[in-house]
Amino acid sequence: MLWAMDFVDQYNKLIQPHISSHPLYFLQNAFVLKQIMQDLKMPLYGDAFQNAVAEKIARFSDEHAEQLNAYLSGETNLNSICHDFIQFIFDSNHNEQLDADVTKQVLSVNIIDSSDFVVKTLLAQHPFRDEIKIFGFGLGDGSYEIALKNFLTQQGLIKDARIYGYDPYAMTNGSINYLELNELSNGLTSYDLILSRWALHHVPVSQRWRNYIDVLNCLSPDGISLIIEHGFESHGRPIENRRVYRLLNGFMDVLANISIFPEWFTSTLPSYGKHFYVDYLGYQDVNTFIDYCKQELKADYYETGPLFPWQTVISLTHTR
Ligand SMILES: C[S@@+](CC[C@H](N)C(=O)[O-])C[C@H]1O[C@@H](n2cnc3c(N)ncnc32)[C@H](O)[C@@H]1O
Repeated sequence: MLWAMDFVDQYNKLIQPHISSHPLYFLQNAFVLKQIMQDLKMPLYGDAFQNAVAEKIARFSDEHAEQLNAYLSGETNLNSICHDFIQFIFDSNHNEQLDADVTKQVLSVNIIDSSDFVVKTLLAQHPFRDEIKIFGFGLGDGSYEIALKNFLTQQGLIKDARIYGYDPYAMTNGSINYLELNELSNGLTSYDLILSRWALHHVPVSQRWRNYIDVLNCLSPDGISLIIEHGFESHGRPIENRRVYRLLNGFMDVLANISIFPEWFTSTLPSYGKHFYVDYLGYQDVNTFIDYCKQELKADYYETGPLFPWQTVISLTHTR
């Protein structure tokens, strides 16, 4: 089940004319930006939301041209630009227009539903024991892990599941067994399903591999780990200007998370979003998980569209 990757070609075709002169031009012009976002089918349904997002990005790009030029020429990283963007959103009170329900609705087609379909298809094909243990890495309040438990039980694929998880900044949920960082490596429990949705790119690279590998080492012999991430640059289909691609992902990431998880940004006042970190994963990162995990694992990749920001779902299972 490898989805057609037409969206990479489509993205290249649409973005190339705008970045060939200078990317800042299209980023600074709300009208052009809105047109491109519509052509890319970025999740911008509804005029008010669409205008608000295009205007925020354009105004930020105008006011922070120097930083953006430094980012585009490789002198500074995406995380630092995202932090400037977070500050800009809160300083200018732009966060007020970001409603969680509207954002979820807006994101649902491109991000939430498309990856959810792949996840459920893979889980439905996977042989599980009657009673399983699910681990959510960066699971927040665990709503998605609970939804998957319900899906598996309702489909008759399992009888029951216990949910465990790790998330240093989560709004905790009483039905979930949250582990501390030093418990990830204790190897006391083995998990049948290890899930990490939109979390690993928020884990600083200094901890990312070690922490996730600690959990992967606890994958049960018949288990499966699913990682859902913002779309990787696809094999043999290079993306025009990776930095612009990641920047657009970063802008959407900041806006979506401020609306859906505002406390992640406001719990660190007087500084906003101190715990927010972003650095997107690629194939190399998955290879690192596999190379350093004690288990013999293999990866399968699934790309989900329709268009920007597409998602990559990675399934890790034992080689046998
Ligand atoms: C975009 S949310 C995704 C939440 C949830 N997995 C979902 O699918 O709805 C990213 C999550 O990553 C968590 N996170 C941030 N830094 C983390 C870290 N260093 N280790 C693990 N999780 C982290 C955040 O607290 C947040 O809950």
